[in-house]
Amino acid sequence: MFDVRKPSPAVAALRPSEYTAALIQALRAEPSRVCGVRALEIGCGSGVILAVLGGLGAASLCGIDIEEDAIATGLALLRGLGHEAEIHRGDMWQPVAGRRFDLIVANLPHFPMDHFEVAGRLSTWSSGGIEGRELLDPFLEGLSDHLAINGRALITHNAFVDVWRSRRILERYGLAMHIVNTVLVHIANEKIELMTPSILRAEEGRSIHRYGPHVFADMHIVEIAAAGARG
Ligand SMILES: C[S@@+](CC[C@H](N)C(=O)[O-])C[C@H]1O[C@@H](n2cnc3c(N)ncnc32)[C@H](O)[C@@H]1O
Repeated sequence: MFDVRKPSPAVAALRPSEYTAALIQALRAEPSRVCGVRALEIGCGSGVILAVLGGLGAASLCGIDIEEDAIATGLALLRGLGHEAEIHRGDMWQPVAGRRFDLIVANLPHFPMDHFEVAGRLSTWSSGGIEGRELLDPFLEGLSDHLAINGRALITHNAFVDVWRSRRILERYGLAMHIVNTVLVHIANEKIELMTPSILRAEEGRSIHRYGPHVFADMHIVEIAAAGARG
């Protein structure tokens, strides 16, 4: 039987991060967002966010990830915790073409760096390409086709990845975003060394804070809904 307390070495690369924790905190802070909804997570990794959504009473759970290990790991976790879920292997929106959801959650890879691997992770875990937007932009551009009426999305958004550009993309699709919460996340030295230099230069002292060898950055939890939905 699957022991939820002892992750196998195969799932180590999918271990949750500070970003995962911040997203869980935001979901737990407002359980009414989740109770009774059809929930989708893009980039479900370990499956833990889907488990939280199930625990908060989502009516149905759907996850998508590009990595095969994430499908097996997520399904095992959810089964072990007694939640039913469909998890598809595929790229972004492709497995849910034509479907809509009440709540869409994502902690996408959007660290601005080329496609490097950071210790113990796959490059698909955090690399968002040079600008950090390789997945973020298609996610934002596809959202309105997959949100149900009154549907909402909740995502992680690095403050050093142009928030105004995300706002402008969403406006084109009749959506609006607001920052629910901002937390400080630790950025490992080996990761900061891989960050696109022009973004690092522009953001140090703004959204990136260095104390000797220790680097932290602001990260937003962002909610997205139809423009005007917040009254
Ligand atoms: C930062 S991790 C987040 C994992 C999990 N949601 C969490 O918060 O712990 C990003 C996830 O997106 C997945 N991913 C990367 N590219 C993807 C794509 N094109 N389509 C779907 N998932 C993708 C990765 O495999 C990884 O599991």
